[in-house]
Amino acid sequence: MGKVTWQSPSNIALVKYWGKYENQIPANPSISFTLNSSYTTTSLSWEAKEKTDDFSFELFFEGKAEESFKPKIEAYFKRVHHLLPFLSEFHFTIETSNTFPHSSGIASSASGLSALSLCMASLAKSLNIPHDEDFYRFASTLSRLGSGSASRSVYGNLVVWGKHALIENSSDHFAVPYTGEVHPVFENFQDYILLVDKGEKKVSSTVGHGLMNNHPYAMKRFEQAHTNLNKLKSILAEGDLEAFGNLVESEALTLHGMMLTSNPYFILMKPNTLRIIEEIWAFREETKTPVYFTLDAGANVHMLFPEMVKNKVDTFAQTKLVGLCKDEEYICDQIGNGPKQL
Ligand code: PMV
Repeated sequence: MGKVTWQSPSNIALVKYWGKYENQIPANPSISFTLNSSYTTTSLSWEAKEKTDDFSFELFFEGKAEESFKPKIEAYFKRVHHLLPFLSEFHFTIETSNTFPHSSGIASSASGLSALSLCMASLAKSLNIPHDEDFYRFASTLSRLGSGSASRSVYGNLVVWGKHALIENSSDHFAVPYTGEVHPVFENFQDYILLVDKGEKKVSSTVGHGLMNNHPYAMKRFEQAHTNLNKLKSILAEGDLEAFGNLVESEALTLHGMMLTSNPYFILMKPNTLRIIEEIWAFREETKTPVYFTLDAGANVHMLFPEMVKNKVDTFAQTKLVGLCKDEEYICDQIGNGPKQL
């Protein structure tokens, strides 16, 4: 019997992962900022049971039994069973909660599946399950099998997942901390998440990734991600905010462009997604403040900016953006140091 608890953050991609092959192998490399205040806390308790062919677990979300999450966890258990052979020898209790509001439209898969994977990696370690990797690399591999973007959440700051010719040790199987030079302007970089639509997404990421399989522009897009990651390396080193903004905004619109040009096609942006983008562009133009947006696979807008303009941006958000957010809600987050064991 035993119990372990991990807190693991969400992350926001700058160069996006969109499209994958069998076994959660990404079609292109991606890089993200790990967030600080948007995280999942997960406790995993276990007790030995007779070994059977199926998995035995209960799941509590914010203190209440949650049946609807079970199929996702069951699918995750199946995918990681070859790495965690003990899964069928224990009964598990999983208790999980998020700091961000439930159904805020913030994908909880990155924080949720990385938190659970870190718990599983701790249990594997305590059972002396032999694996030749270091702890976080193993946790990242498990996370990737749960949800691709979760592989990046096991490290803080800037994280790369997916093989890139110019990023040493990068891999399609697990994420690695970005070790290139980073200009101080990116320290404590801010991410305000403007909540536009809190409903369940009409098209899941899994379906969206799948639609890249026969996508007419897929190959060009995958090549572009490699080029953009390469460009971002020098932008990060030089602290060129304008080039940074141009690259991340283009990445966000390209991601949604892939959705618009899939077949079947779909749109995840909402009218207020575009209104917020226009407000950001107008504010930047008028005040020359370095503030940029990115999007994940949803309607919410992530507003990215350096800490030095925080006061100005706070006033802008309060006067121009809050009214465009669902229930006037937005989350003030920033780049963070990664997961913690509690
Ligand atoms: O991890 P998934 O399968 O939910 O995919 C997430 C994909 C994006 O958030 C759109 C991009 C990314 O790299 O995180």
